[in-house]
Amino acid sequence: MSEEQKKVILTCAQPSGNLHLGNYFGAVKNWRSYLEQGECFFGIANMHAITMPYVPANLRKSVYDLVAIYISCGLDPERCHIFLQSQVQGHTDLAWILACLCPLGQLERMTQYKQKSAKQGDSVGAGLLYYPALMAADILIYNADAVPVGEDQRQHVELTRDLAIKFNNTYSDTFKVPELHIPTTGARIKSLQDPDKKMSKSDSNQAGCVYLLDEPSVIRKKIGSAVTDSGCEVVASEDKPGISNLLSIMAACTGKSVSELEKEFAGQNYGVFKAAVADEVVKLLAPIQAKYKEVSADKAFLDKVLADGAEAAQRRVNRLMGKVYRKVGFNELVR
Ligand code: TYM
Repeated sequence: MSEEQKKVILTCAQPSGNLHLGNYFGAVKNWRSYLEQGECFFGIANMHAITMPYVPANLRKSVYDLVAIYISCGLDPERCHIFLQSQVQGHTDLAWILACLCPLGQLERMTQYKQKSAKQGDSVGAGLLYYPALMAADILIYNADAVPVGEDQRQHVELTRDLAIKFNNTYSDTFKVPELHIPTTGARIKSLQDPDKKMSKSDSNQAGCVYLLDEPSVIRKKIGSAVTDSGCEVVASEDKPGISNLLSIMAACTGKSVSELEKEFAGQNYGVFKAAVADEVVKLLAPIQAKYKEVSADKAFLDKVLADGAEAAQRRVNRLMGKVYRKVGFNELVR
C-alpha cells in the first residue's frame, strides 16, 4: 500500500491523571485494533488539559504516565506514532483559523462546555469555549480518515466534520471529512457511584472511578461498593442503571454479550455478581499494570517515543499547513 492510500487514524486523550476504565473500554482498548488498519497517530492533548485548573508540575508528570499507559495497553510505538500535542507546531495555528469559521453559538451549545463551565462560574477561561476548535484542528491537521472515541466525544467530532466541510466550501477542497468511530461496547461507562453520569477523572466522588493503575484491593472495594438498584436480579434495564453499568463493564472485560451474562448470573445476588465483575477487572488490569511498572521506569525510552512521535507528526502537519496558509491568504515569508 502506498503512503497516499494508507488510512490515517488520529485520536487523543488528555493527560489529566491516570486513565480509567471508561477511557480504556471507550477508547484505548479499541485503538489497538487500528494498528492493523493504517497509520495511527495517538496524541496526548496537554494543551486541552490547561483549559481547566491544573498544576504545571503534575501536568508534566502526567504526560509520561500517559505515554507509559498507552504502551502498556498495547499501543506499540514501533507500529504507531505517540506524540505530545504541544511538541508539534501547527495545532493552535489551525485552531485559530477554524475558530474564525466557527459560529460562536455552536461552541456555546457544546455539552462538555456547558457542564465544565457550570463548575467554574465566573472564572471560566475562554480556552474552554474554544476547546472544540482545537480538537477539530488536532484531527484535521493530520487529514485523518477516522477518529475512534467514546460516546462523550461524538459532538466534538461532529463539529470537526462541520468545520472541515465549511473550510472546504469557503476555500476549496482541502480536508478529508473524518469518520467518527464509536465502539459498540464500552462507549459510555458510567460512574460506579452515580450511574446516570459518565465515569470521569473530574468526578468529585472518586470512588465511582476505577483507574487502570488502581491496586486490586482498591478495585474490589470500589466495585463492591458500587451503587446498585432496588430489586435483586442481574438484568440490564433502564430502571437499573447501576447493574446495567456493571454488566457493560463485565461484557467489555470478557467479550461476552450482556444477555449471555444475564443468563450466567440468573438467580445470583448482587454481591456474587459484583465480586465476579471485580475479579474480571483485576484479571484484565494485571498485565497492563505489570507492563506499566516496567515501561514507566525508563524515562529515556519514553522521551525517545515522544521525540519519534513528534517528528512523524510534524512531518505530516507541515505537509498540510503550507497548503492551508496559502488557501486562507497568508503571505509567504520572502527574504
Ligand atoms: P478524554 O481524555 O476525556 O478521554 C479519552 C478517551 O476516552 C473516552 N472516554 C470514555 N469512553 C467511555 N466511557 C467513559 N466514561 C469515557 N470517558 C472518556 C473519550 O471519549 C476519549 O475517546 N477531547 C478529548 C481529547 C482530544 C481528542 C482530540 C480526541 C483532544 N483532541 C482529537 C480525539 C481527537 C478528551 O478530553 O478525551
